[in-house]
Amino acid sequence: MALPLEESVPHAPEPSAAEDPELEQLEIELLLEAVYRRYGFDFRQYAQASLKRRLWRRAYAEGLTTLTELQARLLHDPRCMERLLLDLSINVTAMFRDPSFYVAFREKVVPALHTYPFTRIWCAGCSTGEEVYSLAIVLDEEGLYDRTRIYATDINENVLATARAGVFPLAKMQQYTQNYIRGGGKRDFSHYYVAAYDAAQFSRSLLDNIVFAQHNLAMDRAFNEFNAILCRNVMIYFDKALQNRVHGLFYESLEMFGVLALGHKESLSFSPFATKYETLDEPERIYRKTA
Ligand SMILES: C[S@@+](CC[C@H](N)C(=O)[O-])C[C@H]1O[C@@H](n2cnc3c(N)ncnc32)[C@H](O)[C@@H]1O
Repeated sequence: MALPLEESVPHAPEPSAAEDPELEQLEIELLLEAVYRRYGFDFRQYAQASLKRRLWRRAYAEGLTTLTELQARLLHDPRCMERLLLDLSINVTAMFRDPSFYVAFREKVVPALHTYPFTRIWCAGCSTGEEVYSLAIVLDEEGLYDRTRIYATDINENVLATARAGVFPLAKMQQYTQNYIRGGGKRDFSHYYVAAYDAAQFSRSLLDNIVFAQHNLAMDRAFNEFNAILCRNVMIYFDKALQNRVHGLFYESLEMFGVLALGHKESLSFSPFATKYETLDEPERIYRKTA
């Protein structure tokens, strides 16, 4: 079961209510501008409430009492930036997370992918890779993996390193096995990994057709044309303007009749691109580009 999002944030005392909200807002804007100009990470359009909470918690965890002090530390200490990146990028994930998504993917997306001789799939915001390995397993079981290339990207290099290693805690395998079965799994889940001490090493053959790369949805451009794009549990952290930017990027990156899979927490409904897609599966927010 996925951890509640807030559990991924280091525990720290709640900040006292800002004495001067306008000053606090100014400090946040200056800090985000500083982060952007110094490191190129653009969090200026992230949803405010959760961003503010995470900045304060990072400040407390560093033993600081104002966001201006945090800004100074971030500018002078790249390791502090790495810690903040981990706080902000919220890497909660799981194998076969929301199993019903994989049932819908098998039923509604796989037949469409079978019509192509070769497919390219972009998994955007892939975190530590559990979603990508799940996707590779589904494609393998559906006879598609050998003719697919998966591009798995995230803003955060640290999570990509974990994803490339393909080693996940053995303690999670029981839950992942349940997810896998509920997601329409066709084999014994242990077929895909080897247990060693407290770790599960996933089969290297699952990596054969996966390319992991850093890509920032807030700043970077389209880099290929895809038959399908998965981006689940990522855009919920973005404000409306950034969500629209990302929808533009996905629209540009999808071939005609390509599939956009957002998962049940996101929606295309209020985006300017809504009319350019038809719905393949409403509960799992799976769409197909039609215009
Ligand atoms: C909650 S995880 C979702 C992981 C996976 N998609 C899932 O549903 O289990 C969100 C991921 O989005 C990534 N992310 C956040 N902002 C991003 C950005 N601007 N560009 C690319 N990835 C980003 C984070 O680093 C994090 O790994």
